Amino acid sequence: MTGSSRNAAQAERWNGEGGQQWIDNRERHLREHQRLLPHLFGAAAISPGDRVLDVGCGCGETTIAAAQAASGTPGSGTDKPGSGGSALGLDLSAPMLEVARRLAAETGVASAQFEQGDAQVYPLRPGFYDVVISKFGVMFFDDPAAAFGNICVGVRPGGRLAFLCWQDDQHNEVFGILLGAFPAGTRLPSPSRDALFEDPRRVSELLSGTGWEDVRTVAVNEPAWMGSDVADVVSYSTPPASAPTECGSAPGRGWSRPTAGQASRPNARGLRLARSCHAARA
Ligand SMILES: C[S@@+](CC[C@H](N)C(=O)[O-])C[C@H]1O[C@@H](n2cnc3c(N)ncnc32)[C@H](O)[C@@H]1O
Repeated sequence: MTGSSRNAAQAERWNGEGGQQWIDNRERHLREHQRLLPHLFGAAAISPGDRVLDVGCGCGETTIAAAQAASGTPGSGTDKPGSGGSALGLDLSAPMLEVARRLAAETGVASAQFEQGDAQVYPLRPGFYDVVISKFGVMFFDDPAAAFGNICVGVRPGGRLAFLCWQDDQHNEVFGILLGAFPAGTRLPSPSRDALFEDPRRVSELLSGTGWEDVRTVAVNEPAWMGSDVADVVSYSTPPASAPTECGSAPGRGWSRPTAGQASRPNARGLRLARSCHAARA
């Protein structure tokens, strides 16, 4: 890995079981995130010739799509060497990057490159990138301010940042349905991890304080495919990160039932549930 990792626990997770699970469910995640992607690429506005950095690129699908957009051949399955645009996928996980390199080779996208490294400390070439993107890859830093400061150094003046991060469990039907089994007013214990990225105000403060300008966040809510039938959905579902406790017994977040608009919608093509994230741009 280039540069030392400050995020040892995350490096272990994504090089171990967490990474393998993500690889095993790669195509499921693609379908689940399908309607969220346009919000990322719309905000990134990648043009031919752009140099793109994809932070926490995982198995590299967004890096490959970014490389195609940067080489002027979006969605074509190949790129046009010589147009100058390219994308670098940066990730902690060696096994996920192995998949990414294989996918790029299979799709013939030579302008998508991959590096193993910790984005919080990775020695990015100052002012090199036009655009930084990330799909759910920026929520794991042990020092988010250091990480976004480091990433900012790698971006040219006037360059752009666009990323997706999840909203809280209450706004994500996949967890909201489970939580809905508990009485209204049930309080959740404090989240096991810092919920910074669930709060658009804190995200804006973080970015503004680490060198980014014109920061905006937009709430995104889209139906997401969760599985083809009951067995498929159950095989994948995991319980919410924090289980509800007795009303008022823990100094946690307040929580109320999912809104009426949130309801499961199984049909012949499977189950879709509302997935809610923030699209941040700067
Ligand atoms: C939830 S996965 C998302 C992967 C991919 N962007 C996608 O949407 O399929 C989070 C990714 O962030 C990576 N990651 C976590 N912390 C990182 C860090 N400090 N530097 C680089 N990558 C990191 C993980 O290895 C993992 O691949």
